[in-house]
Amino acid sequence: MANNEEIFKKIIAHSKEYGFIFPSSEIYDGLAAVYDYGQYGVELKNNIKSYWWKSMVQYHENIVGIDTAIFMHPTIWKASGHVDAFNDPLIDNKDSKKRYRADVLIEDHVEKIEEKIQKEVKKAAERFGDTFDEQQYRTTNQRVVEYQEKITSIKTRFVDSLEKGDLADIKTLIEECGIVCPVSGSKNWTEVRQFNLMFSTQMGSVSEDSNQIFLRPETAQGIFVNYLNVQKSGRMKLPFGIAQIGKAFRNEIVARQFIFRMREFEQMEMQYFVKPGEELKWFEFWKDARIKWHTSLGIPREKYRFHDHDKLAHYANAAADIEFEFPFGFKELEGIHSRTDFDLSAHQKYSGKKLQFFDPETNESYVPYVVETSIGVDRMFLAVLSNAYNEEKLEDGSIRVVLNIPPVLAPIKAAIFPLVKKDGLPEKAREIMDLLKFDYMCQYDEKDAIGKRYRRQDAIGTPYCITIDHQTLEDNMVTIRERDTMTQERIEISKISEIISSKMKKNF
Ligand code: GAP
Repeated sequence: MANNEEIFKKIIAHSKEYGFIFPSSEIYDGLAAVYDYGQYGVELKNNIKSYWWKSMVQYHENIVGIDTAIFMHPTIWKASGHVDAFNDPLIDNKDSKKRYRADVLIEDHVEKIEEKIQKEVKKAAERFGDTFDEQQYRTTNQRVVEYQEKITSIKTRFVDSLEKGDLADIKTLIEECGIVCPVSGSKNWTEVRQFNLMFSTQMGSVSEDSNQIFLRPETAQGIFVNYLNVQKSGRMKLPFGIAQIGKAFRNEIVARQFIFRMREFEQMEMQYFVKPGEELKWFEFWKDARIKWHTSLGIPREKYRFHDHDKLAHYANAAADIEFEFPFGFKELEGIHSRTDFDLSAHQKYSGKKLQFFDPETNESYVPYVVETSIGVDRMFLAVLSNAYNEEKLEDGSIRVVLNIPPVLAPIKAAIFPLVKKDGLPEKAREIMDLLKFDYMCQYDEKDAIGKRYRRQDAIGTPYCITIDHQTLEDNMVTIRERDTMTQERIEISKISEIISSKMKKNF
């Protein structure tokens, strides 16, 4: 079996070969960290967005959706803190001339120590068998305790230095950890510098500085500045939520890992406005609701883990990431933040407009607190794709490449095949296609042998293939073949829709 790096390369190649993702501007040699979605990619992406939107807006009576502009008044980014503090600490290696995010170098180093702990734990578990007490082992085994202390000390020092703005100490920490450049292998580092991640452009006349505007680095601010519009026009009472899906832009310096870190990407964000003092209850509620959403797709729970933040942003009083096990390890997929009243209060201050809620129960006006859930569409796409990609060895020794995409997200729900291109079978197949195509994304295919057609559909993750043969003309029955088990069944045409629909059940 290939290792994770090889599998990741295969996933990237598969995405391109089968029309999921193409490098942007490829005929001009591409544009770093920007990608285009192909014919199947866009379907999968739309299905992810729709699954999220339904779970938020359709499922909750007190959550509504909006769609705000990418361009916003520049003062918004001053109020939100993005102008002054949306920075990454960067460091260059003088030999390879490669640039890295200092925090990512340190994070990767910590992960290597964590892997050593995992190895020790695994070895011990095998040695002690059923009597193994992992918790006790982690707190008493000297080597593991030392590794753990090392991790804590590196993390604490990094957070302290970052908070104090002591960039020189971050460089010293990198040197003391013995971190080398993955390309040159050297420790020849420059100083650490802060770099703002927002893209800017000019609105109107290019000569005036005051016309500088930013491409939004998150969709959340569009929600905050419309909080009162929605609350008043929708007569919303606390707690209530506003959801939005849209593009965000960040000038990521170290853009890497395919669509994991892009310069132009999409977010699905929901801000839940609550009574001050109730935010931690809702924070726990949304942590639970979001992990249920993920597992409702049938992706194993072990692929996810919570990471509670050691360092809270100045505006948050609780924060956790949902991490997913990508082929390159556990990484952030979604963030859940209790953002207090920071954003609304800041906009109130900078705009001079009151953004308060009048509570009819207490006869008081106050600025609500906010719990946010924020997930990248593209990261979710990568999570789904990397979980779905499978190379199966079949009984005849051949390899089947199949995407076991959750059926509700699959780009094509059913493929319709006439067994042969004659004898009225294509016409019958088209009839079935017309029956299904208003409800489901279907694909008609009459080229090549049936086996080859199955393989093509497996490779794009189609849950069902329906074959029309001569017998169909007699008895109105077709053969339906299921993607994951490859089992085939003979069913009546009138049952096809019901079978597909039973696979699309939502359970969030
Ligand atoms: N409003 C909060 C916010 O933007 P974030 O943790 O910076 O928080 C939220 O981003 C989510 O957006 C992340 O968990 C990730 O899924 C996605 N995301 C952030 N930067 C990204 C990038 N450069 N490329 C792809 N997805 C990204």
